[in-house]
Amino acid sequence: MCGIVGHLGTFNSLSVVLDGLEALEYRGYDSAGVSLIDRDGKIITAKKEGRLTNLRKEVSNLKEIYFAGIGHTRWATHGNVNKVNSHPHFGDGFSVVHNGIIENASELKEELIKEGYQFLSDTDSEVFVRLVEKISKTEKEFSKVIFTAFSRIRGNNCLVALNRDERKIYAIKNNAPLACGQSDDGTNYFVSSDPYALQKYIDTIYFPENNVLCVLSMDQEIAFVEPDLSDSNKFKTEKNSLLSSENTKGDFEHYMLKEIWEQPNLIDQFKIHLENEANQKFLTTVPKRIAIVACGTAYYAGLFAKNVIESRCRIPVSVDMASEFRYANPVLDKNDLAVFISQSGETADTLAALHLCKEMGVKALSILNVAHSTIYRESDFNLMINAGPEIGVASTKAFTMQCLTSVYLSERLMTLMGESVDLVKFNKQSSRLAKKIEEILSRTDEIKKIAESIHSLNGFFFTGRNKSFPIALEGALKLKEIAYVHAEGYASGELKHGPIAMIDEGVVNIAYIENNLFEKTLSNIQEIKTRKGIILTIGKTDTEELKNISDYRFPLDVDDLDDLSPLALNVFGQLLSYYIAKHKGTDIDKPRNLAKSVTVE
Ligand code: AGP
Repeated sequence: MCGIVGHLGTFNSLSVVLDGLEALEYRGYDSAGVSLIDRDGKIITAKKEGRLTNLRKEVSNLKEIYFAGIGHTRWATHGNVNKVNSHPHFGDGFSVVHNGIIENASELKEELIKEGYQFLSDTDSEVFVRLVEKISKTEKEFSKVIFTAFSRIRGNNCLVALNRDERKIYAIKNNAPLACGQSDDGTNYFVSSDPYALQKYIDTIYFPENNVLCVLSMDQEIAFVEPDLSDSNKFKTEKNSLLSSENTKGDFEHYMLKEIWEQPNLIDQFKIHLENEANQKFLTTVPKRIAIVACGTAYYAGLFAKNVIESRCRIPVSVDMASEFRYANPVLDKNDLAVFISQSGETADTLAALHLCKEMGVKALSILNVAHSTIYRESDFNLMINAGPEIGVASTKAFTMQCLTSVYLSERLMTLMGESVDLVKFNKQSSRLAKKIEEILSRTDEIKKIAESIHSLNGFFFTGRNKSFPIALEGALKLKEIAYVHAEGYASGELKHGPIAMIDEGVVNIAYIENNLFEKTLSNIQEIKTRKGIILTIGKTDTEELKNISDYRFPLDVDDLDDLSPLALNVFGQLLSYYIAKHKGTDIDKPRNLAKSVTVE
């Protein structure tokens, strides 16, 4: 998803902006651009399709030390991927970058064209620029101009403008991420759509609320302004906990592989965070029902959480995709609890579902990885998964930690219900999970060999039953998003209700097999075998029947992990997808078309 970085001060804005955009590359984009004020007071703008390296080449001739600049990485929503549609977009004396979607862009564009305004691009973002131009004709106070233009647009948006004559940066947002801050000595000022881009410059981060204008000026404290131009105190501050998180791939070829390997240690570290989590604000009453809402991998973590919470707490749990939930007129009341699972804490659909629940008077608890995120700040309660920054677009360690945190949530709920909860037992079970994952990691060569044998097949079915069904879905998603191949996740018992028609010698069934429902699962596999499907079995595969019908096997005893067993089996799927993608030669950390945080609906 798009990234914004702005700087004003004694550092070289060109370097600050480019380095900041680089820190946000993991969010996904398809073009990039920068606007700078040069020493003659002119705004110069450079934009390029493709990776940031293309933009760096484009500006390699800019040798000045620029004191002001804004930059953008664009994930196209309106208008093709090309230079003209890239940001910044500019008017006379100012430049603008934009995250989000201006939902009423076409009607505003029509109005502006009728009034004679020319458009260079096909973007909704440029509509804001032309609005600013129009309003500037009658309003000289630029803050007023920005507020008036911002009041005309609808949707979830963040806009940052560079004003040449004033040598200032203006930033405003509505339900979109925006952070700003300044160096301790007050000589440098920063703004971004993601505090991760500012982590090495500031230790206090400001998060303005919706419709609060941030004004960055040389040698003055950052100003927060209300629409009537009065001072605003509608912003939150957080200590930048990202400061120490220098993120590199180390010896790993990809962030994704590094993050897969981090999982045992994160699980072992989790117990250390539990004391801190135990001190966080938490529910005081047991919810009648729980509605879990999330997207993508986080949604599959929600399906895992449903199994755990219902089996341990006997509280009914529903799980919905956020993009469906928010238009489904959900049946909830104030005795229920809405649980939002999100790695980034910025996913637009999940945030919109959170707003809907708040409007309904339903308490919101979020399971998150990013403490500075919008969802974090707008939730009543938060449980942090403590997975550290996840750079690979394909979520791996965050999924595992989201699921583990949902088990911890079930423990907290049982405590609330007056049940005796033994955290030592939870920690021992987690330690067994960490060891089991280490075992899988130590057998990577077996997985590499299987990936080599099956990577060129036509179709991949991941199947699992009951508590392993969510990881069948998750395994298929991993393979789709990093290897760009057709893969489906199915409940084992469902294949015979239609999808089995697709089975032939070019299709592999990747079957997660556990003790529970073993006989049923075995029959499903035999149904596939008789139709010449290729069989890859993982888990309880050391039986004669499975040795006879499996083309590939990955025996793994997970019986002692109880309801955490799917989290171990899932690591096989993570590694299998990774090594299949390597054979495909795809951009594993930044797959095509994908964004790490989908901040548009
Ligand atoms: C997972 O591999 C994907 N990158 C994607 O499905 C992701 O899980 C989804 O977009 C939700 O993101 P969030 O957890 O940041 O809300």
